[in-house]
Amino acid sequence: MIRSAWLALSLLAAVPLTAGDVIPGTRQGELVELLIQDCGSCHGLQMKGGLGPALLPASLHGKSAEYLSAVILNGRPGSAMPAWNGLLSPDEARWIAERLLQPDLP
Ligand code: HEC
Repeated sequence: MIRSAWLALSLLAAVPLTAGDVIPGTRQGELVELLIQDCGSCHGLQMKGGLGPALLPASLHGKSAEYLSAVILNGRPGSAMPAWNGLLSPDEARWIAERLLQPDLP
């Protein structure tokens, strides 16, 4: 229930994002699933933190989408944060980073 509400809000919030222009809607849905299931396994289903730190807008305050997408693509060597560059394109990582910074997501 929480999950589907979050998904619906996530998809709505995705519309005005700049990287959304280059990522088809169906792929955006897959990225949201990835965010909840794969990223959520470490960062928490609601991005409130777990093994990895919270990825809520307040926790990421002051960090740029460029910086965050670089972490997503390259991972953090020496930590549990894996590199996603085989699974995500730079545009997709950027799209996820911009989503994480959106203040209206729960
Ligand atoms: C296996 C566990 C794991 C998975 C899966 C994972 N992360 Fe992480 N992530 C971490 C850890 C641990 C850190 C903190 C690394 C450190 O100590 O610097 C981190 C750090 C980050 C950061 C940097 C946060 C900051 O404040 O600098 C971002 C952004 C991030 N992860 C996004 C993602 C995204 C997006 C996904 C899914 C595509 C993901 N992570 C999947 C464990 C994970």
